[in-house]
Amino acid sequence: MASVDVPVALLGYGTVGAAVNRLFHEQAEDIERATGHRLRVVKALVRSLDKEREFPAAPGVLTTDINEILDDPSISVVAEVMGGVEGTGETVLDLLRRGKNVVTANKQLVARRGDELFAAASSSGVQLRFEASVCAAIPVIKVLRESLVVTNVHSVLGIVNGTTNFMLTAMEAGMSYDEALADAQARGYAEADPTDDVTGADAAAKMAILATVAFASRYALEDVAKVGIDTIDPLDVAAASQLDMVIRLIGQARLMDGHVDVRVSPALVDKHHPLAAVEGAFNAVMLQGDAIREITLEGPGAGGVETASAVIADITSVIGTMGTGFLQNDPVRRTLPRLPVGEHRSPYYFHLSVEDRPGVLSRVADELAQRQVSVSRLLQHQSLDGATLHVVTHEAREGDLRDALTAIAALPEVKRAPQPFPVISSRGVTELGWA
Ligand code: NAP
Ligand code: HSE
Repeated sequence: MASVDVPVALLGYGTVGAAVNRLFHEQAEDIERATGHRLRVVKALVRSLDKEREFPAAPGVLTTDINEILDDPSISVVAEVMGGVEGTGETVLDLLRRGKNVVTANKQLVARRGDELFAAASSSGVQLRFEASVCAAIPVIKVLRESLVVTNVHSVLGIVNGTTNFMLTAMEAGMSYDEALADAQARGYAEADPTDDVTGADAAAKMAILATVAFASRYALEDVAKVGIDTIDPLDVAAASQLDMVIRLIGQARLMDGHVDVRVSPALVDKHHPLAAVEGAFNAVMLQGDAIREITLEGPGAGGVETASAVIADITSVIGTMGTGFLQNDPVRRTLPRLPVGEHRSPYYFHLSVEDRPGVLSRVADELAQRQVSVSRLLQHQSLDGATLHVVTHEAREGDLRDALTAIAALPEVKRAPQPFPVISSRGVTELGWA
């Protein structure tokens, strides 16, 4: 079969964009053998033409003028790998309206402006694919949209940010927060502004996308409750280890009695749970559904080549299915109500810095008991200026726990408002030996 030459344009030639071009060159024969196509980067939009590039583009490829891509009728596939929401969103809309297929690695763009982008793609009869926007190399979007199309997925639980997982495992080994963040940035895992990684905004966008695809109902970034790893105290890391757990940034999307809850938060994960074994910049997603019971996908969740592999997979899918109507662009087909605030149920962990006086523990226990929050485990550490109580609860209603913690924070012996984290375990407290 004669090969077809496919010109591809990139928006962005940074960590991911340069890696796409590198793989096109280094794997050209494999790609051609597998797809019958020779993929070639003909234009790449950048901000600066003078920057030194790790994998230099051929002369004339880099440009600062988007019109060289918009106005070129030979370009029918564009990979958006530059990031940004407002300006980038307008550019992507322009590309789609001009009949160009777009694949994107930009989770903020899909989570914030997905509805208008999918609508534009559909009305132009082109494709908008976004595999690389979630969990880099792990093909979770394709699995949810194609392999599990007839499975009612009701739970998505996972580690979906590589930077923070890398940082948390480095911190377990003794590295400081700042050193771990600098290392993750140097390896190309972090967002241009790593605030998105450490505050949970990156993971929240990915969970919004996963929930949208898994439940076929739209979730935007603002629908996701988020807490970042910037709220973790070193005391929590030490206590987790004593409780035979690790701390991970966990995304949860659950469909319960027709209501959906999507959230991201650091969680204490039982060392026997599969997610506790996910280390470094790896991600993992556990899917539960009617026919499948449980499927876990695990792999590299960040990095240039890792993400480029998903971008190229999307490009080859676009080329292979162009004009066939194989997939609807927009995965959404229904609107499901959100779980009311406070109704989420989980076991929780929190620590309290208190004055070490008689009666403190009983007042704390009383505030919890008044709201039906039951303690399953308690550690106490002495310090020069008081004591720290580490508390693990049985499963509790989030609203009740928050009310109890508000009352506890107002006690005169309690020094700071506590930050609760969910506890993730596939074993109940009895099996954990905490009953
Ligand atoms: P990056 O290294 O910062 O590269 C961004 C590229 O886009 C640069 O080449 C930059 O040009 C160009 N660019 C940015 N804004 C531009 C603008 N307004 N006009 C023209 N060019 C512009 O970022 P990255 O790590 O490759 O990430 C790119 C996208 O992939 C982001 O959406 C990110 O969330 C996503 N992603 C990244 C990873 C990862 O591990 N890095 C994984 C999954 C998804 P200059 O080079 O001239 O500055
Ligand atoms: N900054 C992101 C992460 C890149 O660390 O997971 C991959 O989306």
